[in-house]
Order: sequence, then C-alpha cells, then structure tokens
Amino acid sequence: MKIFRKININMLFLFLTGTVSAQVYNQALYIPPVLTGPVISLSFNTGTKQFFSGLTTSTYGVNGSYLGPTLVLQKDDSVSINVTNNLPEVTSSHWHGLHVPSLADGGPHTTIDPGVTWNASFKVMNNAGTYWYHPHVHMNTMPQVTNGLAGLIIIKDADESLLNLPRTYGIDDFPVILQDKKYSISGQLLANALGDSMQVNGTIHPYLDCPAQVVRLRLLNGSNARVYNIGFSDQRSFSVIGGDGGLLAQPYSTNRLLLANGERAEILLNLTGDTPGTTFLLQSFASEMATNIPGAITGMMGGNGPLEAVDFAIMQINVVPVTGSPVVSIPATLIPQSPWNPANANRIRTRTISGMGMVSGQGNFFLDNTSYIHSVINDTINLGDIEVWNITNTSNMAHPMHVHDIQFYILTRNGIAPPAYESGLKDVVLVKPNETVSIITRFEDFANDTVPYMYHCHNLAHEDMGMMLQFIVRSSTSGIGIDNFTETTSVYPNPSDDQWQINFKGGHPDKVTLYDLNG
Ligand code: C2O
Ligand code: CU
Ligand code: CU
Repeated sequence: MKIFRKININMLFLFLTGTVSAQVYNQALYIPPVLTGPVISLSFNTGTKQFFSGLTTSTYGVNGSYLGPTLVLQKDDSVSINVTNNLPEVTSSHWHGLHVPSLADGGPHTTIDPGVTWNASFKVMNNAGTYWYHPHVHMNTMPQVTNGLAGLIIIKDADESLLNLPRTYGIDDFPVILQDKKYSISGQLLANALGDSMQVNGTIHPYLDCPAQVVRLRLLNGSNARVYNIGFSDQRSFSVIGGDGGLLAQPYSTNRLLLANGERAEILLNLTGDTPGTTFLLQSFASEMATNIPGAITGMMGGNGPLEAVDFAIMQINVVPVTGSPVVSIPATLIPQSPWNPANANRIRTRTISGMGMVSGQGNFFLDNTSYIHSVINDTINLGDIEVWNITNTSNMAHPMHVHDIQFYILTRNGIAPPAYESGLKDVVLVKPNETVSIITRFEDFANDTVPYMYHCHNLAHEDMGMMLQFIVRSSTSGIGIDNFTETTSVYPNPSDDQWQINFKGGHPDKVTLYDLNG
C-alpha cells in the first residue's frame, strides 16, 4: 500500500511503506563539543537557528543556541557544575540516570530562577555509560526540551577502558540524540507530543561519516513522546553493548531495537566488510511496533504527521576510509552484571498505571491513581533498602517509566526474564498495556528528609500532566518519617495566602517546609 501525504513546504517527503523515499541527507551530523570536569559551567540561553532556509527559529540552548555540550565525566571524580539560567523563565537541570544527592538531582524542587546560577556538586558514581541532562520543571519540561535544552553525559571508568571498544569521540564513537520536532508555518518549534520530522543532534537530514571499522553509536531517545524501533535500511545487524546504566554482560546482536523516551543504547556497527562509499540509513521501523506505542498509529496523542505508523529514515551512514588504529572486532564479553536478589528485598511495592488517554479527548493517565502535587511526598524509602517494584499497566498505552536516584535491573516482564538487551542496569523501562514489569534496586548513599526524588512517565506530555510522583529516601537514624508525618499532621486553610494553622498529633518536627504550587 502506498501512503502519500502532503506536508509542510520545507519537509517534502514521499513515504512508501517498507521503503524510504529518496530524501537527500546532505547535512553533516552536528557533533556537540565536549566539556569535562572538575568544574563545568553551563548557561541556559535563548538563541536562534536556521533549520529551514529563509526561516529563523527561536531556540533554547546550553552554552550555545541549541542543545548542549556533551559532558564527559570520569567515575569516582568529583565534579562541580554551575548552571546559569539566562532564560526568561524558571528552569532546572536534571542529570538523568546519575546517582546523586536529591539536592543535586535538578528535579522540580531545585529550580533555577532567571538570572540565578545553581551549583550541583557530586561525586561521579555511575558506571561508564551514556546519560543525559535536561530541565525538569513541573508542567514545563516538554516545552523547554522542545526548544532545545538537552545534552549528553558520557561517563568513563577503568573497567570500560580495558575493553577493546571504539571510544574516540566524533571519530569512531558518536553521540546520536534522536528527537522528532514539529514546526509552525513560520518555522517555530511547537511543544507537541509528536513531531512531523526528525532531527539528530539538532541536524535535519543528517549524514554521518563512519570509518570502515567498528564504530559506536550512543543512541538517546530525547523525544517528547515518540518511541523508535531502531534498525538499518539494509537490515544489517548491529550489537547492543549497553543500556541506560552502562555496558551489558555481553554484546547482543539484533537488527531491531526498541528505544523509548529517555532510554539510551550503545550499539556497535561492524563496518569492516563495507567498502568506503557504501551508504545506508538508520531508520525507525515504526510500522512493526505494537499499536499502543507512540508513533505506531496515527491519531495517538494527536500525532497525525508523516512519521506516524510508517517506517522512516533518521540518518544516512556514509562508510569512509578506515582511521589509524581502528577497532576491527566486537569483544565477546563486556561487564559482568550482579543484579540484586529478590529474596533479599526489604520491601515490595505495587505501582499501577491507569487511564485511557491514548487518543486526545480520552483523558489523563495516572500513577497509583493520583497525580503530581508538588508538596505531597508519595513514598518514603529507607536508605539502604532493596526494593522490588511491580509496575502494572492497566491503561491503553505503553509508558516509559523512569526512576531518579538509582539504576535498576528488570527482573521480569509478565513473569518472564527480559530480553538480553534489557538485562543491564536501567533507569527507564517501557511498560506496555496488560504488562507487569518487576524491577529491583537498592536505594543507597543519599538520604534527605525534605528533598524528594521523582519517579514518572518519561513521555514528557504525560510527565507535564502530572504522571509523576515523589519519594524521599530517609536514613534509618533520622527523626521524622514522612509516612508518619503526613498521617499525623494537618495544614489548613488550604489554599491560603497569608496564614496557616498546622496541627501536629504526637510531637512536632524540628522543621516544616511549606511550598506553594510553584515550588
Ligand atoms: Cu529524564 Cu525525571 O527525567
Ligand atoms: Cu531522570
Ligand atoms: Cu505515560
């Protein structure tokens, strides 16, 4: 079946199911510059960019006009990051996937006012892998990410450096930030859940020159809502070597990889058998995705553009001559994994996703039958506890669930061990309708009785609508349990603008913090 659609003047494609049109990929993929520690300065700015000839697009960027530099951090090093907000609105800077104190996490409780510089100082504790940063202001994450606030974080460590892997940034090791965007007629970015056309690292119709050897692509789904089913136009296989929280135990060879919002995957392409001059396309085989996944059907979340329900190209790979000292083979083993044992869990929690809002007009989605309230802590977790979360999706749509602070292992999907490419540490898991995903983690190192961490759907439209809850990690020696606190304390009148009466039953805490709706 042929599908013809009319699209914006500047984005003329012809889509045939199963094949991709003869679009010209003539823009060199932008490779963001690298910044490294121990002190890093980031400034969030407004800017402009020419995505389309003759049209100037207003953008946000980090140390530039669009997207941000790649932060390269070394495990066990301490880093101090200053984030200056030069935007006309409140923002924040969340280090997605990083195990840091809640005060440094950059969530909705540690916002940065315009004109203010916020400092996040922490020790890098994560394993070598691909992480990212983006704003996390409640109800305003999607617009700010849409405008261009996002960047990659690459962590290096001793174990990874012993492996024979490509790791020369921009030469055989490439950042690949996948984002679909929608534009107004005048070329302005629209904060839609689903876009009409693709960008990689902010480049439209990109090509990437890859030497005829083993190359590493660090894929990030930095899109608002779209999920990608990654593959190549010639159906070649590739090796998945890492997920959200670092490398896998061994490479996993496949020709398809589902990549949900916020997820990362490091893949190796073995181009040793390709003659320079060969070209092929990185694609999303979205027509093969289950129809409850964003991008798989037209009409979901208001998506009705040319990327819905069809296979589409993302980037052209041009094979070029080999570099000096190339990596020419793929290691058989990578980093051993040691998942926590569910028999040692201190607590098992049930998480429920509900709602029928897949097509606009059907309403909202909920986590545990509730929505985000800035002042409400939904869970208290004891520092050091191993927890199993059984996340059940009773809704009609797949949701990428993300937990701050920790990395987890997937124990099972509907009782069955996850596919090999999901067997490493993760911080996002796509939970499909009628599925229960069991994850296990340990809440280590950081406790704070007042500043929570988030867990939420990483579909940014859902997150902004309140599909996000909060937990406190409490050290076992600290005084007030938040569970207790909320049960025995009342604050009224609420709302109020000048005075509150606070009643404590059974002793009062040393400190009370009241937040308004803006934090
Ligand atoms: Cu990518 Cu709560 O974040
Ligand atoms: Cu996060
Ligand atoms: Cu969701």
